Amino acid sequence: MTAKRVKDSQVISTQLVLPNDTNQLGNLLGGTLMHWIDISAAIAAQRHSGHVCVTAYVDELNFHHPVKLGDIVTLQASVNRAFRTSMEIGVVVTAQSYTTQEPRRANNAYLTFVAIDSSGTPVEVPPITPETEEELRRFQEALVRREARLRNSRP
Ligand SMILES: CC(C)(COP(=O)(O)OP(=O)(O)OC[C@H]1O[C@@H](n2cnc3c(N)ncnc32)[C@H](O)[C@@H]1OP(=O)(O)O)[C@@H](O)C(=O)NCCC(=O)NCCS
Repeated sequence: MTAKRVKDSQVISTQLVLPNDTNQLGNLLGGTLMHWIDISAAIAAQRHSGHVCVTAYVDELNFHHPVKLGDIVTLQASVNRAFRTSMEIGVVVTAQSYTTQEPRRANNAYLTFVAIDSSGTPVEVPPITPETEEELRRFQEALVRREARLRNSRP
């Protein structure tokens, strides 16, 4: 299978935090952010593999700073590494106030997606070729995280 580049499947999506996305204090709901993360990661996995992909595992999610009503949220989802049928997708979330324009890192997430066929059977995915230093670092670290999560998810 021909290897693909990270930029071939990378997703950059933008959301505006509206009242229905927030709690009573005007902070973005964690569940809404998780939904946005899941969707952007799924699109990157599907672009890379050319198949429907399902979420198999979501690593620990930390919310570093509150995201406020009216903020502009940018999600960048990248395939960090492709294994046999699974892929680790990293999502970097930044939030920007329309008043200060200052983007701040709100959240980082790692998700594992598995490519499946129409009967739900996992199918092989193309390898990925890291091109930049950062892509190479993420590629190497993804293997370490995979070993840890497979240990944790064993019944
Ligand atoms: C994910 C799923 C397809 C894996 O099926 P399976 O029969 O366990 O398949 P396999 O044992 O052959 O594993 C397939 C791949 O998934 C990976 N995987 C399975 N469970 C995993 C888990 N909990 N965490 C991380 N990776 C996992 C395996 O490591 C393997 O990866 P590899 O081929 O790259 O080495 C299946 O468990 C499933 O359909 N789960 C439900 C997914 C879902 O509904 N998600 C939410 C909605 S999208």
